[in-house]
Amino acid sequence: MTAPKLAITDSDPISTAVDAVVIGTLQGRDGVVLAGAAEGVNAAYEGALLQVLTTVGASGKAEEVVTLPTLGKLTAPLLLAVGLGKPAEDGSITEEQVRRASGAVARALTGKKRVVTTLSALHLGAAVEGTVLGSYAFTTYKTAAGDAPVAKVDLVAPAEGTAKAHRATVKAATAIAEAVSLTRDLVNTPPNDLFPESFANRVAELAKTDGVEVEVLDEKALRKQGFGGILGVGTGSTRQPRLVRLTYRGPKATKKVALVGKGITFDTGGISIKPAAGMEEMTSDMGGAAAVIATVLLAAKLKYPLEVTAWAPMAENMPSGAAYRPGDVLTMYGGKTVEVLNTDAEGRLILVDAMVRAAEDGPDYLIETSTLTGAQVVALGKRTAGVMGSDDFRDRVAALGRAVGENAWAMPLPDELRGDLDSRVADIANVTGHRWGGMLAAGIFLREFVAEGLTWAHIDVAGPSFNSGGPHGYTTKGGTGVPVRTLAAVLADIAANG
Ligand code: BES
Ligand code: MN
Ligand code: ZN
Repeated sequence: MTAPKLAITDSDPISTAVDAVVIGTLQGRDGVVLAGAAEGVNAAYEGALLQVLTTVGASGKAEEVVTLPTLGKLTAPLLLAVGLGKPAEDGSITEEQVRRASGAVARALTGKKRVVTTLSALHLGAAVEGTVLGSYAFTTYKTAAGDAPVAKVDLVAPAEGTAKAHRATVKAATAIAEAVSLTRDLVNTPPNDLFPESFANRVAELAKTDGVEVEVLDEKALRKQGFGGILGVGTGSTRQPRLVRLTYRGPKATKKVALVGKGITFDTGGISIKPAAGMEEMTSDMGGAAAVIATVLLAAKLKYPLEVTAWAPMAENMPSGAAYRPGDVLTMYGGKTVEVLNTDAEGRLILVDAMVRAAEDGPDYLIETSTLTGAQVVALGKRTAGVMGSDDFRDRVAALGRAVGENAWAMPLPDELRGDLDSRVADIANVTGHRWGGMLAAGIFLREFVAEGLTWAHIDVAGPSFNSGGPHGYTTKGGTGVPVRTLAAVLADIAANG
């Protein structure tokens, strides 16, 4: 994808030769109001801008985009007024409001060569993220040229803060948006082109950057080292499984963080096969792996003072004469045994192999993320991730997820579900045999494999990682890149506070 070129501008939006000027509107108690930084534009309209907006029916509600001709009042021929929604009691506007409005207006600006936005004067970093992410398009497989995303966006800087600080904000926000876009690209790549071997090769290419090391274990290495979960799930496919380890060692690293992400490149369910309807969305079952990989590359780009390792177990879950079956017992990495009662509960099997291996390197934190359960979507919907794990860390991760506008909610791991995972023959079974608390049961299963005393969190993004509906805010169709921004925020928080 080609992201718009961004630059902070000193010139007056009124007199800049651009295709369009963007301002923000708010949903006031008595109708539409102008957000900050729109005063100049209002003056150019001789103070009549609100009247014009009201006349055409603008309300300022979130993501409303109203396009007005400027009739020579501005140098640009068009003015786009985008709704930010309701301000807080004290009149303040959140970063997420700016991110969503910037994304919504970016989607309305396709085909434009150059625009100037004043939304950046409200929250600079959020405007950058919203603009880049709203402009995202996955066109690799389109043979006909569609509308190009807006080519260049001039950003009006906030009144407060130095030029140097503003440049740093734009740089960091751009890197974050690029990490999200990379995750979207990987998720959107179809499963005939993105399978364990090709996915691992792609990571090896991406790893050719300063301070980053990659190691790929192929099926032979996995066998030699006893990764029974990854091998078991992968056996039904002609595409052999992989385990990828991507490490960034930051300067003066104070803490070690292990990230683990589910990399099922396609999930048919295996012998416990899924129904046909909607199965194509299981191309996104590697969203966790894509997110942890993009996060490590981001940590390297922003030079976080941390050691961060992404572990991405990769397999394709297929039914075949060679496939693992219900009733099989797998010996996982580290030696625990698991009775497979449902081959569609495959994510937890590849994840615990990687989690046990990750813990051997002695991380201070272990964060695992996966498109793990349909039950997550039933419990929390398509846009809110479920966070489980060590009590305090779980709450911290969920709070940071909300702070960056990727909704996340802390969920419990009720002890009574553990007994429902008891197996007749092995140490544990991979499913409970009932559907109650399915997201939590998966979390309980993972917990069995977390090293004693290790601080950990599990983020189930089955719903939020893939947008099956129409675009909204800065979220385009298909891969969303969730939870990259949550992971980035957690790393930044660990770097700052330990
Ligand atoms: N990849 C799915 C979970 C999923 C469902 C992700 C919907 C995204 C959207 C996972 O491997 C799965 O199949 N889970 C089963 C577990 C069950 C067999 C205990 C599920 O949720 O049905
Ligand atoms: Mn499955
Ligand atoms: Zn799956």
